[in-house]
Amino acid sequence: MSAFYGELARWWPLISPLEDYAGEAAELARVLREAAPHATTLLELGCGGGHVAAYLKRDFTLTLTDLSEPMLEVSRRLNPECEHLAGDMRTLELRREFDGVFVHDAIDYMLSATDLSAAIATAYRHCRPGGVALFVPDVVKETFAPSTEAGGADAPDGSGVRYLEWCYDPDPNDTVANTHYLFATREADGRVQHHAEVHEHGLFPREIWLQLLAAAGFRVSVLTERTDEEREPRLLFLARKAG
Ligand SMILES: C[S@@+](CC[C@H](N)C(=O)[O-])C[C@H]1O[C@@H](n2cnc3c(N)ncnc32)[C@H](O)[C@@H]1O
Repeated sequence: MSAFYGELARWWPLISPLEDYAGEAAELARVLREAAPHATTLLELGCGGGHVAAYLKRDFTLTLTDLSEPMLEVSRRLNPECEHLAGDMRTLELRREFDGVFVHDAIDYMLSATDLSAAIATAYRHCRPGGVALFVPDVVKETFAPSTEAGGADAPDGSGVRYLEWCYDPDPNDTVANTHYLFATREADGRVQHHAEVHEHGLFPREIWLQLLAAAGFRVSVLTERTDEEREPRLLFLARKAG
């Protein structure tokens, strides 16, 4: 378990504020709503701190799953009305079907085609016939660009966090990129701690996405996210299970 989603999980609301998700979540809700106008139940794989979920729950009854118990705890506080369950998106088996399955940026933690296929298979197993699965990777191989970002915020009790995120692709011939994180956390009593770690992210060409989704049995369309944020619009892989 990484420190980011383990011992640092409680800082998630200050590292990646809920308000920053409003525009993207509205767009994802629109896409899901148009693709599945009668959908009520939605399973999220890799919900993290539940920041997208906090908006999607207005439209859907959500079941939220994640590998990290500390991140689920953050989401539980924000989304107490939603069902929360621990599980790895590659192996999760709830023996239930949902009208839709949603996978946001947690899909970036699938590093190999084998892992990505396993997560897609999980979505397929949990999707009812005629239902949809929406996959929203941060980037695909073709849209990847190295980036540096800094951020963080303070809480009313005087605690706060700042971070630096540096993302680059050390080997363009494989399907993995690196993100270096540096965190400084300050407790309400003034104690400051520093943390550093490297995360690996999957970077798959659009064609591989399409092949793996089709191999799982989905019919796929690729949409381009509508966004006014200052970044490359995301590709949305909208997959439908035959009804
Ligand atoms: C960036 S956070 C997701 C934030 C989320 N989009 C939100 O709205 O708050 C990435 C999450 O992916 C989860 N994750 C990583 N690998 C996973 C896996 N194999 N199965 C399920 N969740 C996973 C991590 O535990 C982490 O909570």
